[in-house]
Amino acid sequence: MGTHIALLIVTAVALLKHSVQGDGVNNVKNIDCCQFFPVIDDLLDLFEGPNTCSEDGALMVRLAYSDAMGIDPMLSGGGADGSLVTFSAVELQDPANDGLDNIIDPVRTLVENHEIEAGDMSHSQISDTNESLSVQFAAAIALANCPGAPRVKFMMGRPAATAPAPIDLVPEPPSSPKEALMNENLNNIDTTTFILERFSSIGFSPSEVVSLLAAHSIATASDIDSIVPGTPLDSTPFIFDTQLYIEVALRGFLFTSTGENQGEVGSAVQGVLRLESDHNLARDSRTNCFWQSLASNQTAMQAQFAAAWFKLSLSGHNATSLTDCSDVIPTPLGITTPPHFPPSLSNDNVDQACATAAFPTLPTEPGPPLVVQPRQQDD
Ligand code: HEM
Repeated sequence: MGTHIALLIVTAVALLKHSVQGDGVNNVKNIDCCQFFPVIDDLLDLFEGPNTCSEDGALMVRLAYSDAMGIDPMLSGGGADGSLVTFSAVELQDPANDGLDNIIDPVRTLVENHEIEAGDMSHSQISDTNESLSVQFAAAIALANCPGAPRVKFMMGRPAATAPAPIDLVPEPPSSPKEALMNENLNNIDTTTFILERFSSIGFSPSEVVSLLAAHSIATASDIDSIVPGTPLDSTPFIFDTQLYIEVALRGFLFTSTGENQGEVGSAVQGVLRLESDHNLARDSRTNCFWQSLASNQTAMQAQFAAAWFKLSLSGHNATSLTDCSDVIPTPLGITTPPHFPPSLSNDNVDQACATAAFPTLPTEPGPPLVVQPRQQDD
């Protein structure tokens, strides 16, 4: 009996050692994932400290999204392979990637400071060196820094990018010069259709597109209205919440500066910029009910975003050839403020688009009408 118990204890300890390993401070299931811990420290410096949903963090999320979109079944491209960093000179020529140069330089500095073994090749490799850093990893850390975000999964092992992605694969808001040209050529193309078809060509449903747009809840725009850089897309840009789904569903007529810019439509909250693409997706019959369903449900939004984001992070790759390092990603802070209408706005201001269900009834935040300030720009 005593021998059996001893054997059981020895086996349990061996199993535990096998399943949880670490560097003395952090524990992970796979010891190869430990290489990321020193990178996290530098990323948190870049993102202005733990739990800070910063400008550079939001840009990193946009970088990872744009990089992952760089794949097309007909035109090629490697998807989430870091090519936007490796071949930035080519891919930054796409107007849809305007502004991303501001995050690519800090990424390069991080890459220079961290050497990750060549065999791992999991990251956006800078040519002529074995140093590398995963754009997807950095974006997962950026998301974890935003209160309210889900803890997204992260796999390592992506091969280095070998070529730039073709230009024109990242959707832009309607009315951009590119789409204006297409409208002329293609006889009034439905720009929501254009966006949904681009995503569909790489396997994303309309609902998954809507889910991914939760990322706009931490977003600001600097190029759409360059007079007011850092204009938030919802009233709470430091929190990953459902306010974007609520506020974009409201009737809007406010502009941040001179008036309607290309890709911008009127917003319901002073100081918030509404993208025409978000506005249309909130109203289109293919997406409006799902959009509305996320407006009052933080848990559903988190789950839907996390699933769609994970799928996007695997763009161009097969999960079975990658290693799960999700346990290196910190757990984001939760939020306590429930979904609400900004002051002075209510269900009466909703532009009801979904034909089969009413917009959820929500409380109105007390106080005078909000004037949301632009996000302070990094030097
Ligand atoms: C559906 C098509 C999409 C369009 C047309 C679009 C368009 C835009 C535009 C115009 C901006 C502002 C750029 C500027 O003026 O500085 C922006 C910002 C941003 N977008 Fe999107 N986007 C789309 C989808 C996505 C997706 C799927 C994600 C991530 C999952 C994403 C993440 C972001 C983030 C994080 C920012 C803010 C960057 C910052 O704060 O500096 N976008 N997007």
